[in-house]
Amino acid sequence: MIFDRKLKVLAACLPTFVLLLPHSEAQAPRPPEGPRPVVTVGSQGPTPVHTAYTKAQIDAGGTLFLQNCAFCHGKEAGGGESGPDLTRSKLVASDKDGEAISPVIRNGRAEKGMPKFNLPDGDVTSLVAFIHTQQDKAMSQTGNRKGVDEADLQTGDAAAGKRYFEGEGGCTKCHTSTSLKGVASRFSGLQLEMRMLYPRDAVKKVSVKTASGQTFNGPLVYQDEFTIGMKNDAGIYQSWPVRAITFQVDNPVEEHVTAMSKYTDDAIHNMFAYIQTLK
Ligand code: HEC
Ligand code: HEC
Repeated sequence: MIFDRKLKVLAACLPTFVLLLPHSEAQAPRPPEGPRPVVTVGSQGPTPVHTAYTKAQIDAGGTLFLQNCAFCHGKEAGGGESGPDLTRSKLVASDKDGEAISPVIRNGRAEKGMPKFNLPDGDVTSLVAFIHTQQDKAMSQTGNRKGVDEADLQTGDAAAGKRYFEGEGGCTKCHTSTSLKGVASRFSGLQLEMRMLYPRDAVKKVSVKTASGQTFNGPLVYQDEFTIGMKNDAGIYQSWPVRAITFQVDNPVEEHVTAMSKYTDDAIHNMFAYIQTLK
């Protein structure tokens, strides 16, 4: 099963499992600054990929789910007579704020037996909130029950992984073996795999163009409805009122999350074997 393993990887975030890690693993050296290892000891696990939803949204979603979806997907979204288990869905795991789930709800997949639903935006958001919540719950249970099999991480073919990295995987759009060099020394085992699948804490970049045509590029530090702030080359904070500029925010990590739903199990094993050679 393609997603089984990703669930196991996610399960690694659970405190129960972290305590089982060999000492050296839990103490993997951190980079001097910047990216923190994603697997943390604590009660909260990693930052969820998806948006945080309110209890009201989740509850409303639960009611709507019962009315419209439970018939096929089961009351708890855990799968039913004719619909798949959404708590183990990769599509759900890679969804952040409905961008992957909503189109399935709105358009359906008629040929596969998933009807389309014409629901107001707010209802779709509530459904998304409910589905994410059910998946989060299911993942923590999986972790408690199963833990993670380290040996399962060591089955790939590094040469095939390198080919995939340079070819079909499209990784060289943003990385080279040199730019990733050292990653396998800083992280190992599950922490490394988590970095590969979800480098969530990476910095967004912004490019700003002022009314007079000057351009600025740098890491995004602040953004709200009215203001854009970045660090300039000299490391100094600079900000503009949104209405006075045009700007574009680039979040390259989105691509990781999107790509995740396309990887096959083999591709992940192989790429991971290759990444492990980048010491
Ligand atoms: C008549 C049965 C049926 C109903 C009712 C139904 N679904 Fe589905 N749903 C399916 C089937 C079957 C699939 C799998 C389609 C496929 O294999 O591509 C599916 C797939 C999905 C997927 C994609 C899962 C994935 O991993 O690709 C999502 C999300 C989803 N349904 C959400 C919902 C929601 C939300 C509702 C209620 C608003 C709903 N479904 C109602 C049968 C149903
Ligand atoms: C659109 C750009 C983009 C693409 C394509 C991309 N990555 Fe990344 N990747 C990033 C960014 C940004 C980060 C986070 C910044 C960082 O830590 O280097 C990252 C982080 C990583 C890390 C963790 C690095 C570290 O030092 O913690 C690994 C491993 C990785 N990517 C592997 C891959 C692989 C394998 C592929 C191809 C399947 C891939 N990436 C495709 C942008 C990309």
